[in-house]
Amino acid sequence: MEIIKETEKQVKKTLKNEPTGHDWWHVDRVRKIAIKISQKENADLFIVELSALLHDIADWKFYKGDDTKGPETARKWLQKFDIEEHIIDHVCSIIKEISFKGAGVKTEMTTTEGKVVQDADRLDAIGAIGIARTFAYGGNKNREIYNPEIKPQFHQSFEEYKKNQGTSLNHFYEKLLLLKDLMNTKTGREIAEKRDQFMKQFLNSFLCEWEGQDYL
Ligand code: NI
Repeated sequence: MEIIKETEKQVKKTLKNEPTGHDWWHVDRVRKIAIKISQKENADLFIVELSALLHDIADWKFYKGDDTKGPETARKWLQKFDIEEHIIDHVCSIIKEISFKGAGVKTEMTTTEGKVVQDADRLDAIGAIGIARTFAYGGNKNREIYNPEIKPQFHQSFEEYKKNQGTSLNHFYEKLLLLKDLMNTKTGREIAEKRDQFMKQFLNSFLCEWEGQDYL
């Protein structure tokens, strides 16, 4: 479909050379897995695909914490096409609701399409790719890989979470290991289980190596 093709081109252009793991390839993976989940969860494919493509177009993490930037940018883009207003509203509300805002902050998606895209985005944050993205992001933000003297923190508000300056390894405990239980759909949960196992295995090996021990 024309709108999808054009949006794909635009997002590719905007997120080219993005160094923190929120690049075009992240978007492409989220789209693929979102489509796969959609088919099992009876979601509207057009809305899912558009939202997946646009979900990181202007992430709050890169706009000084402003979470209105994403939906606004998406709306301006979609208004160039002949799309019904309610579809634009739906896509923009998904983009607004989607991001993780701290361990103690509830972020519930209101529609099936939103649930699917949020699951897909979270799945790309865990497993082997999740590990790679965590260290890429941490490096970009000058974070240490690990520092046993800094303990993980469970942020109770979005404000606290945004200010977080912890290590990359802590990010697993503060966010990534929590995602499996936050999946919205059955299909998402099944995929998350396996990716979660893989991360736990990685963390176990990492901490053994840190202490100069053999793997347990
Ligand atoms: Ni994302």
